[in-house]
Parts: sequence; structure tokens; C-alpha cells
Amino acid sequence: DGQATRCLAHVSENSVRADAGAGPRAGPEARDVPGEGLVPEIVLRAVLSGGVAAPAESCTRGGSYWTGDTAKPILLRDPADRGAGVRTVIVGGNYPSLAVVRVPISRRAGGAFVLASLRRDYFTLEDILTFETVGQTLGVAFAHQRAQWALRERVKELTCLYGIAAVAGRPRVALDDCLREIAALLPPAWQYPEITAARITLDGREYLTHGFTDAPDRLSARIVVNGAERGAVDVVYTRSAPGKDHDPFLDEERSLITEVGRRVSLIVERSEADLEAARLQEQLRHAERLATVGQLSAGVAHELNEPLAAVLGFAELVKAAPDLPGAAADDVDRIIKAALHAREIIRKLMIFTRQMPTTKVACDLNQIIREGLYFLESRCRTQGIEVKRHLEEDLPLVMADPSQIQQALVNLVVNAIQAMPAGGALKVDTRSEADRVVFAVEDTGPGMTPDVQRKLFTPFFTTKDVGQGTGLGLAVVHGIVTAHGGTVDVRSGVGTGSTFEIAIPIGRSAPAGPVEAR
Ligand SMILES: Nc1ncnc2c1ncn2[C@@H]1O[C@H](COP(=O)(O)OP(=O)(O)OP(=O)(O)O)[C@@H](O)[C@H]1O
Ligand SMILES: [Mg+2]
Repeated sequence: DGQATRCLAHVSENSVRADAGAGPRAGPEARDVPGEGLVPEIVLRAVLSGGVAAPAESCTRGGSYWTGDTAKPILLRDPADRGAGVRTVIVGGNYPSLAVVRVPISRRAGGAFVLASLRRDYFTLEDILTFETVGQTLGVAFAHQRAQWALRERVKELTCLYGIAAVAGRPRVALDDCLREIAALLPPAWQYPEITAARITLDGREYLTHGFTDAPDRLSARIVVNGAERGAVDVVYTRSAPGKDHDPFLDEERSLITEVGRRVSLIVERSEADLEAARLQEQLRHAERLATVGQLSAGVAHELNEPLAAVLGFAELVKAAPDLPGAAADDVDRIIKAALHAREIIRKLMIFTRQMPTTKVACDLNQIIREGLYFLESRCRTQGIEVKRHLEEDLPLVMADPSQIQQALVNLVVNAIQAMPAGGALKVDTRSEADRVVFAVEDTGPGMTPDVQRKLFTPFFTTKDVGQGTGLGLAVVHGIVTAHGGTVDVRSGVGTGSTFEIAIPIGRSAPAGPVEAR
């Protein structure tokens, strides 16, 4: 094959020079024809493919070519020259005696070495047969070395793939760690590990091994997840590979990088599917928890409503009694206040558990927001909060219960105000999207930790002091929005404020936009 030919052609050249040096001195005039070499390429190729046809005295049974007079023509069958059949060639040159001895390596690969002499009829058939034995021994040695080398490369390649499988198979390993470890597994699988560096890029994130640079000697494979290109696996030689001037990489390395790219793609795909499954699980658990709490509190709220009404009613009666001592009147006031607070909790609970009937009508969200904010703006002003409104004009009407939507808005705005005791900015936006209308309440408060965000909608979850918050505000928002078939979205980070975004579907019976005349 090409590899062996080239390599052995070098070897043969050297041995000829050695021979020329040992025999009669070869002056500068004895140099080979430039570009032709000692043996023309066509002759070498013919010998390698067993194509020397005649004359009989120029070939051996082992397929070598030899002559005592290169001025005589020989017949060649050049395998590259398809269809042309046999060709007559005169080797010529300064060495009348020439032997191109075959080095059989395998059925497909072989080489040759060349011996030449300035003397005519220098070699005997016996010499050539001896050389052929040497050639066969050389061939066996080469074959052995190649097999060992191929085995070593294959072992490295398999070790790399096995390592990748092991990393990917470990339970609960983060994708980041996984990719970093895989990058580290790549250089040892290449021919020159000491000058090899690897990089895995995914969505702009990079996982590098030591010394990675954008060197010109590089192999790459794309990372494609669900049909989308997301990154690449790159392997580079940080310096030029020893003894390789053109293509520094092996075919095996090319297939290896492709395989690594394919596997990394699968690992990313699987990891993302796992994350999504876990998220859905969590969402389901959360919904179940909310439903349980809802059922429980619906019952409690219902049971408490009656005794509480009695407490309030009788407290009012006591308060109206004549000659009530001043201290007792104050206490009754406290009882009434506490009972009202309890009733408020029950009311919120009943909204949350959807015990409150919703009466949906086509309504203008902008209008609801203007009215809702009207009562809260003075409170904002005294607290140094600037209120910004961006209400989209011509917002489609939505089918909704206006008082409940207002309740949801007020709960969000009150939370925002409570989050900015030292002032800040409150932004309320509306916009329409495809088949829904969205309103967002944004504050510049302290934001929330991921832990708080996870528990936000759980009834009775509050970070506020007793008496300050019931922890039902957002549970109520959730109940209302769910009853309207909408969604609540939260974006928040510690120090970056919070945004609550509520989307309500427009609903079928809401008047649609102008109907086009046909
Ligand atoms: N805009 C916000 N900024 C920071 N934290 C918030 C914000 N909104 C809600 N939270 C956090 O979420 C918790 C739950 O809010 P939620 O409205 O459900 O109850 P609450 O405000 O504590 O009590 P309630 O609304 O019943 O008076 C709050 O205690 C607070 O920690
Ligand atoms: Mg609240």
C-alpha cells in the first residue's frame, strides 16, 4: 500500500547509497535522473503488484525484478494504467545492474528494496534469491510490527470508548462533570498523547484539557442533539506530529472522533431527557401536594365558617351592650379584629380551593389593572416606590371573573410593595400573545432564593412575621389563575428583583378581532 511503498522506497534509496559507497566510487555524474529516482515509479509499482511481465530472466518466481543491463527493455503491467495492458519500459540510468526485491508484508500490503551496481551483470540469480529470503524475513518483521502497532492503537481506542461508557453510565453524574471527564479521556487515545489536547464545546461552554489551542492539526466532530447542532468535539496536536508532514492523523483516529461525537451527542440527549423527566415529576408532586392541602383546607374552612360567624356576631352584640366597662370594650374590639382576620384567612382559603364560584364575563384586563392599582398607588408613594405602567393598547378582552383577577393582581402588588420597604420601582405590564393575554408585576426588591421559589405557591408558606403574612397570597393567585386555565411564571434571583407573569387564555366567547369580509 501507499504507506509501505513510500517507507520502503526511502529504505531502498539508503541501501543503494550504501552500496554505491562500498562499490566503485560514484561521482557526481553517477547521480540519479532528477525526479525519476533510481528506479522509475512505474517499475516499482509493477514489482509491488507482481506486474513485471517479461523478459523471463528479469523476474523471479517471488515477483522480484532484476537485470544486469538496464538498457534492455522490460515489459510491465502497470495496475494504475488500466486498459493500457502491457508497456515497454527502459529503466536506463547510471546503474546497469539493478534488483528490486519484493518484501511481502500481507496479502494487500508489500514493499520492495532496491539494490544497484555500477557494474554490468553484477548480481547472480543466487544473490537475488538470497535477497528475496531477506525480503521475506523483513516482511514478516514488518507485518509483526504493524500488527502490534494496530493492536496498541485499537486498545487505546477501545479504552477511550470504554471510559466514555463508564462515565456516562455512572448514576447521577452532572453533565458538566461528565463532559470534562470525557475530554480528559481523549488525548491518551491518540498516537502522540503528549502533544494531544482535546476540547468539548456545548452551547458555548468549553471543557478543555491542558494546553488546548486552536492549532492547525485538528480533528472535529459535531455534537447534534435532537437534530440541532449544539457544539463540537475537537482534538488537536499542539505541536506538529513527529515525522508527519502532511496528514498527521490516522483513519482510525478519524473514525474514533466521529464515534466520540456521536456518543457525546447521545449522552447530552439522555441527560436532558432525564432532567426534563425529573422536572415533570417534581411538578406533579407539587400539584398533588397542593391538591391534598386544598381538599383538607376546604373542609376546615367550611367547618370554621359557622363558629366564626357566631364569634363575630356575639362579639358585636357584647360591644353594643350598654354600660360596658372601657377595658372590656377594648378586649371585645380585639376579639372582633382577630375574628375578622380569621375570616379573611378562610375567605382566601376558599378562593384557593375554588370554593368561591367564578362568574366569567368578557373583561378588559387593562381596566381591571387601572382600578386595582388606584387603591395601592398612594401606599406606593408614601413608601418611595415609583409605579410604571405599560399597558398595551387594544388588548383583546378575556373571559374572566374580574373581581378574582383583581384579587390576584392585588396580592402580587402587595407582595411587591412589601418586598421594597425602602422604596424602588414597581412595573405593571400587559401584552397580548397569540391566544392569551399576559400581565406582569415586576419589582426591584431583594428577589428570592431558588428554595423560596420552590415553595412559593404552597399554602401557608411565608417568610414574613406572624401577623404580617398568612402565606396564602400566592396560593390564592395560583387557585384563581388555574381556575381560569392560565399559568403563573416567576423569574427572580437574589439581588435582581422578582417578576410574576400571569397568562390568561382569551377564551372562546370573548369577542374576537374584526372579521375579514370575504
Ligand atoms: N415580590 C416578592 N419579592 C420577594 N419575595 C416574595 C415576593 N412575593 C412573594 N415572596 C415570598 O413568597 C412568600 C409567600 O408569598 P405569599 O404572598 O404567598 O404569602 P405572604 O405574602 O407571606 O402572606 P400573605 O400574602 O398571605 O399576606 C412571601 O412570604 C415571600 O417570602
Ligand atoms: Mg402576599
